Amino acid sequence: MEIVIRPTPADVAVTAADIVADHVRRGPAVLGLATGSTPLATYQELIRRHRDEGLSFKDCVSFNLDEYVGLPKGHPESYREVIRKEFTSHVDIPDAKVEGPDGTAADIAAEATRYEEAIKAAGGVDVQLLGIGTDGHIGFNEPVSSLASRTRIKTLTTQTREDNARFFASIDEVPIHVLTQGLGTISEAGHLLLLATGEGKAEAIAATVEGPVAAINPASVLQFHPHVTVVIDEAAASQLR
Ligand code: F6R
Repeated sequence: MEIVIRPTPADVAVTAADIVADHVRRGPAVLGLATGSTPLATYQELIRRHRDEGLSFKDCVSFNLDEYVGLPKGHPESYREVIRKEFTSHVDIPDAKVEGPDGTAADIAAEATRYEEAIKAAGGVDVQLLGIGTDGHIGFNEPVSSLASRTRIKTLTTQTREDNARFFASIDEVPIHVLTQGLGTISEAGHLLLLATGEGKAEAIAATVEGPVAAINPASVLQFHPHVTVVIDEAAASQLR
């Protein structure tokens, strides 16, 4: 596991964009995309490179990590819409190649299987962007998720619903269920790129990097992966030994 500590969140974004751009240039790349606040600056930097430097995503395919269950199609906070709004609609990746689990599917278990098969059919994810929850979740694999889990429905913890309430009018509007790639699914990506910024993530990052591998800290599964880059700012690194 490579740990890269950068002074500020803006520096984290530049380093993360360098890594993603490298995969894209080597292309055709299968990108694993995360939502949440952390990767937004990285997406901004990739959009800038597309606009100013001709970085092209036209041969890329992307897969979202997760999706809320029960938000209607087109809801502005559904992750399919968020990823379009924040990233893919600003670059030249074809919209039909921007994939995500369908949280509106009538049969969620069948949708989970379909999604796993779609990732496999694309040849697997080359580089997977990851944020981390304050409780150590990646994707929406909350504490005590099986380290071998596959795409499935999960119940969000109260902590995560509180953390995400900032995107909704009130916590009551934050869905309770999500469809998320499992820890086993995420671990099959060729290169895992975990980003974290701010003091609030320091404890989760220390547990991920230095703690025992345990289901109580889902991100610790990264310790088993042969190619992980953790890019964090000094605040998020503040509890590392
Ligand atoms: C989002 C996701 C989550 C977030 C995590 C951190 O697709 O999978 O694991 O990465 O909740 O969110 P932020 O970046 O908003 O702190």
